[in-house]
Amino acid sequence: MSASPPATPCRLLVVEDDADYAQLLSRNLERSGFKATTVKSAEAAFELLADRTFDLILTDIRLPRASGIDLIERVTAQIAAGEMEPQPIVVLTSINSVDMAVEAMRKGAADYLTKEATRDEIALRLRKILEANELAHENRQLRRTLTRYEEFENIIGVSDAIKRVKDQVAEIAASDVTVLIQGETGVGKELVARALHRASSRARGPFIEVNCAALPDENLLLSELFGHERGAFTGAINRKRGHFELADGGTLFLDEVGELGPIAQARLLRATESFEFTRLGGERPIHVNCRLVFATNKDLAAEVKEGRFREDLYYRINVYPIFVPPLRARPEDIAPLARFFAARFAEKHHLAAPSFSPGALRALRDNPWPGNIRELRNVIERLSIRFHGREIGPEALHDLNLGAPAESGAIVLPEGGIDLEQVEESLVRQALQRAEWNQRRAAGLLGISVDRMNARVKKFGITHPSWRVHKGGRGAPEDAD
Ligand SMILES: Nc1ncnc2c1ncn2[C@@H]1O[C@H](COP(=O)(O)OP(=O)(O)OP(=O)(O)O)[C@@H](O)[C@H]1O
Ligand SMILES: [Mg+2]
Repeated sequence: MSASPPATPCRLLVVEDDADYAQLLSRNLERSGFKATTVKSAEAAFELLADRTFDLILTDIRLPRASGIDLIERVTAQIAAGEMEPQPIVVLTSINSVDMAVEAMRKGAADYLTKEATRDEIALRLRKILEANELAHENRQLRRTLTRYEEFENIIGVSDAIKRVKDQVAEIAASDVTVLIQGETGVGKELVARALHRASSRARGPFIEVNCAALPDENLLLSELFGHERGAFTGAINRKRGHFELADGGTLFLDEVGELGPIAQARLLRATESFEFTRLGGERPIHVNCRLVFATNKDLAAEVKEGRFREDLYYRINVYPIFVPPLRARPEDIAPLARFFAARFAEKHHLAAPSFSPGALRALRDNPWPGNIRELRNVIERLSIRFHGREIGPEALHDLNLGAPAESGAIVLPEGGIDLEQVEESLVRQALQRAEWNQRRAAGLLGISVDRMNARVKKFGITHPSWRVHKGGRGAPEDAD
C-alpha cells in the first residue's frame, strides 16, 4: 500500500543539522504530500515554535547544542502547561542508536523512525500518527462542546429578572458589542458570560477566562493578559502568548475587572481601543479579533467616583451592561433552583433525590442568601447527601440556621435611647454564637454581606478558637461543618 497525499498538506517541522540528509528528507516528504520547514538546531526550532504550530515535529536526536531529547522535554512541558498547542514529536535515529529512541519516547515522543527507512515507510508512519492525533483532537473538542452544552441548559429560573437576562443575552449574542456583567458574588455572572459566548457566532472559537483578582502582582497579570517576550523580566525564560492572543476568534472574559490596578487599567484601555498591543518586553504590535466580556461584583460607577477606577476605561467597558440580580430579589427562582441542584447532586453522588416540604421551600425562600446561588447550591448539596430519597422539612433548614430573617421593625427604641455601637456588637456576637461561629451564616442572620461581617468582627476584635484552624486566620468566613 502506498500513501496518497492528503487534501491539505500537513505542515511538518524538521529539525536536522546534517544539511545533506535534511535536504533529501524534505524532498521526500514534499513528494509524499507533506509541507516541511527545516531548521538546523533545537534552539531554532524553539524560536519558531513560539509563533507557529505544526502538525508534527520530526527531530534528529544528536544536534549541535541542545539535543533532540532536550527539545522533546521542553515542548512536552509547554504543551502540558497549556503554553503550546499539542503537536506530536517523532525522533529520527540511525539503526544503531535505537536505545536513544526509546529514551526519547519515555520523554514524550510519539514514535521514532530510522534514517534508513524508505520514503513510503516514513510517509505511512507519519500519516498514522497524524490520524491518531486528529482523532484525539476531535475527542477533546467533542468533550468541550458537551460540557458547554450542559452549562447552557443550566441557566435555571422562572423570574422576570432572569428571563430579562436571558433575553439580553439573546439580543446581543450575534453582535460583537462589549458587555459588562454586574452583580453580587455567586449570582451567576460567569454562567451568563459562557452562555453569551455559546450563543454567539464565536461559539466555535475559544472562551478564555482571566480572573483579574487572582494575581496580586501587576506584572504577572500583565504578562498573563498580553504575554511576554523571552527575558522581559526575571523568570521570563520563554516567549509566552497572553490571554488576549489566545482569545483570538473567540471571547475574552475578564472577571473581577474592578480589582485591576492603575497600570493594568491603562494597558487595558489601550488594548480595548484598538485590539492591538505588544507583549511585555516586545515591540511588534499584535492584533487580535475577540469579543470582550467583563464582570465585577463591585459597583464600578462608585469605584470611578472614588477615583479607584479610570473613568475612560469604565465607559469603554460599560457598553452593554447586564445586571444579574441577587437571589433575594427573585425568590420565585429559589424552588426551581433547589430542585435542579437536588437532582444534579443526586446524580453526582449516586443517590435518590430528596423532596422538599412546603415549609422547607418557604424557609429557603425567606433566607436572605448573601452568597446567592452558590450558597444555595452548597446548602442543597449538603441536604441531598443527608436526606437522599426522603423529604426535607423546615427543621433541617433551621438546623442549618437558614430561614426567616429577623422581622423588620421588631426592635423598638427605648425611651432613653441606646448605644448603637454596643447594640451592634451584641447582635454580631449573638449571631455568631447562633451560627456556631460560622461568619458567613452569621452574616446571613444579620442580612449583611460576609465582607461587612468580617469588618465588624475586626472592628470589635471578636475572636474564636475555631477560626484559627483555618488557613485564613481569624477572619476566615469558612464553613465549620
Ligand atoms: N441561574 C442559574 N441556574 C443554575 N445554576 C446557576 C445559576 N446561576 C448561578 N448558578 C451556579 O451558581 C454558581 C455560581 O455562579 P457563578 O460562578 O457564575 O457566579 P459569579 O456571579 O461569577 O460569582 P463570583 O462573583 O463569586 O465570581 C455556579 O456553580 C453556577 O453554575
Ligand atoms: Mg465569577
